[in-house]
Amino acid sequence: MNVLVVGSGGREHALCWALKASPLVGKLVCAPGNPGIAEIALCRPVNVTDNAAMLQLCRDEHIDFVVVGPEVPLVNGLVDVLEAAGFACFGPTASAARIEGSKGFMKDLCAKYDIPTAFYGRFTDLASAEAYIRKHGAPIVVKADGLAAGKGVVVAMTLEEALDAARALFTEPGAEAVIEEFLDGEEVSFFALVDGKHALPLVSAQDHKRVGDGDTGPNTGGMGAYSPAPALTPALQADVMARIVQPTVAAMAAEGAPFKGVLFAGLMLTKDGPKLLEYNARFGDPECQTLMLRLKSDLLPALMAARDGQLKDFDLRWHDDAALCVVMAGRGYPGEPAKGGVIEGLQEAAAQPGAQVFHAGTKQRADGAVVADGGRVLGICARGPDIATAQARAYAAVKHVRWADGFCRSDIGWRAVARQN
Ligand code: AMP
Ligand code: GLY
Repeated sequence: MNVLVVGSGGREHALCWALKASPLVGKLVCAPGNPGIAEIALCRPVNVTDNAAMLQLCRDEHIDFVVVGPEVPLVNGLVDVLEAAGFACFGPTASAARIEGSKGFMKDLCAKYDIPTAFYGRFTDLASAEAYIRKHGAPIVVKADGLAAGKGVVVAMTLEEALDAARALFTEPGAEAVIEEFLDGEEVSFFALVDGKHALPLVSAQDHKRVGDGDTGPNTGGMGAYSPAPALTPALQADVMARIVQPTVAAMAAEGAPFKGVLFAGLMLTKDGPKLLEYNARFGDPECQTLMLRLKSDLLPALMAARDGQLKDFDLRWHDDAALCVVMAGRGYPGEPAKGGVIEGLQEAAAQPGAQVFHAGTKQRADGAVVADGGRVLGICARGPDIATAQARAYAAVKHVRWADGFCRSDIGWRAVARQN
């Protein structure tokens, strides 16, 4: 089969890497891809938010199956357009992707179907938002309604911070805010493949959202991840499936927007049980990199079963090993990152025991050099029999990367390693 992967980040490199291993995959195409992906797939420089151009690409490349990585093309209706033209896609329609694209939609769905999440209010004007914040007090969380690449959320520990966040949000014309209860606990990422009706749980992972060691500094798209997340015990996982994931899948179908694809639940493990922080309509990045390293089964039939409504009796096998991903970012990230710096040593890094290197924001110069071209630039990953070994192996590989502007957190996996010890 000819398979098209949509996107250009570390997540898409990991998806291409897993699909490349499938005996079912003939031609593997990626749009637009990156230099790491180009080593295993044909990269095509098409704008993934141009649905007509993407449709043309599917026709030109005789694509049999499309796997959409990022949220923006999903919310933009890429799956609707391609499916209508007869191209089978893994990923939700625009209507189902609202579960990520609109926090208001997601919160109202949870309220209507009794899915555990933080209590909240929705606001379209500053005065009522301010009144709500004053009424409930800090800590409190202020969120912009639309897609914001992890940057539209302010977890305000003081009243002033919360009011400032609301004021900043309402400087945008047409802004909408969700203001919600602060949930305290450990955060985990949970993934399930969904076929419109049935959900097949994948494995858990934990992201590291803050830019600095010890979970300090501003939020990012994710500075590293590992899988499994031991905090999500089998009992908690069963609880999440029964009280959060299954009811959501049923709710989306009842609302006339059946969800197909991967449902990514951002969870807070509170003292009152797991609560939903947010839904995403796609794999997490960098969580996906660790999931793909642990997946033993062929990825493609699972994605096809989700698209075809055939997950009911489907099963996946996983390595018992742990996997860990250290993100290397450009100095300045999550602000304006330094770009253009030459990166060397990637082959040495990838040759370390258990290591795997995924590109994210890289670019290949005309002279062949790989240079930094984004905020999150590389995912240096490793597998190991336990989390401490995976961590040691990933950081051993990081040492081989020579990139003057690059930085990473030095403590990815700390919670799980502390538990292991
Ligand atoms: P979101 O994009 O909604 O996942 O928010 C980004 C990050 O903000 C989450 O990963 C959490 O770390 C944090 N966050 C979001 N909502 C809450 C909440 N209600 N309580 C505490 N932290 C939150
Ligand atoms: N790593 C979190 C996300 O992909 O949203």
